Amino acid sequence: MTASVLYDDGNHKCIAFTDLVPGEAIRSNQFLIVDAGDSMLLDPGGNLTYNDLLAEVASFAPPSLTRYVFASHEDPDIIASANGWLLISDAKIVIAQEWARFLPHFCLKGMTEGRVLPVPARGMNLELGNCELKIVPAHFLHAVGNFQVYDPVRRILFSGDLGAALIDETKVGPMVVDFDHHLRSGHSGLFHRRYMTNNKVCRFWANMARTLEIDCIAPQHGGFLTERSMVNRFIDWVEGLECGTDLVSEADFVIP
Ligand SMILES: [Fe+2]
Ligand SMILES: [Fe+2]
Repeated sequence: MTASVLYDDGNHKCIAFTDLVPGEAIRSNQFLIVDAGDSMLLDPGGNLTYNDLLAEVASFAPPSLTRYVFASHEDPDIIASANGWLLISDAKIVIAQEWARFLPHFCLKGMTEGRVLPVPARGMNLELGNCELKIVPAHFLHAVGNFQVYDPVRRILFSGDLGAALIDETKVGPMVVDFDHHLRSGHSGLFHRRYMTNNKVCRFWANMARTLEIDCIAPQHGGFLTERSMVNRFIDWVEGLECGTDLVSEADFVIP
């Protein structure tokens, strides 16, 4: 059993699946939010995780009744299993409008017709059961059209690749136990410096994140930030982060 119940008040549930990726593939987390029987999967991944995730999800909500499949962006570890989820349910895939017409390339012909909910650049509110989730912008962190999900019930920000650490943390469970190590280990710092686009968008995101009440940041790779103090330090760290185009130079554009 790989599921971690992050929250369950009998009506609203947040579930994390942290151990479904085998072998050489980059480890990743998948998430499920359930409210009043309505369910949304977040960043379910590709074919590698599809069968096991399907079985795990069934313990918490009927997969065939999944209402939304949220994709923070278009990467294979995010949404390459789109075809499978569309096949077994009536779910709509929620993805940035920039990626809506790229998604059919993961699917059989016609599978995505009427099944994609493109998110406008400003983000949107999304009703699930009796709650309203916020789909908030995280553009260029790291993809062109990139969103995160804020759950106001448990005050979790499902942050996609922002906050990710590319490390096998199964030995310490899904929670970050040493925040300084998490940032300085290189597993998180190096990842952010290469994959995030630049400091300009980091600062915009930090300003926005401070207006949300966040008790936990749950990224798509690695451990979670589970205390308000860690969350605040992470936001401060992102605000000052130099990354992506801040760090490239002419030396990176030399013909080999
Ligand atoms: Fe990604
Ligand atoms: Fe990722």
